[in-house]
Amino acid sequence: MQHAILILAFLAIGSTASSWDIYIENIIAQSKDASGTTHADKACIIGLDGGAIWTTAGHPNALKLQGQEGVNISNPFISKDFTSFMAGGIFAEGIKYQFLRVEDDKIVLAKKKDSGALTMQATKTAIVIAHTKEGSQQGNTNKGVAVVAYYLESLGM
Ligand SMILES: *[C@@H]1O[C@H](CO)[C@@H](O)[C@H](O)[C@H]1NC(C)=O
Repeated sequence: MQHAILILAFLAIGSTASSWDIYIENIIAQSKDASGTTHADKACIIGLDGGAIWTTAGHPNALKLQGQEGVNISNPFISKDFTSFMAGGIFAEGIKYQFLRVEDDKIVLAKKKDSGALTMQATKTAIVIAHTKEGSQQGNTNKGVAVVAYYLESLGM
């Protein structure tokens, strides 16, 4: 009996994680331009409060935040004080991206020469993050991130 409960709990956790990973594919698919080329290559979703990573690193297109990166990204979105991004940049996968701008206290854009760009959009409870391949157009990634962010907000998340 206890075994059965443990297995059910494990399955429930597993299915929750993979359901978030569907949004990684969604963000990338929504970053297509008119010719069908995708501009985002990696994405993840983190919790707004504390920066816990909701998607899994096992997805082939996961943006794999490490160590303190998630919490360091989430803090300014909660305080609405983005000076740490401006002063120290934004770290993702060990790469330091330079802050470009913030819009409406909830969308942040950053880039790093030869390493592409980052788009982050906060919802009520999460931050949707995607990476634009070097040489691709960040505007298309912004579109994909926005579609998923507004969808999550429509679900109250
Ligand atoms: C996270 O923020 C702390 C405090 O500002 C800083 O010391 C640390 O280097 C940051 N780490 C990363 C990975 O951004």
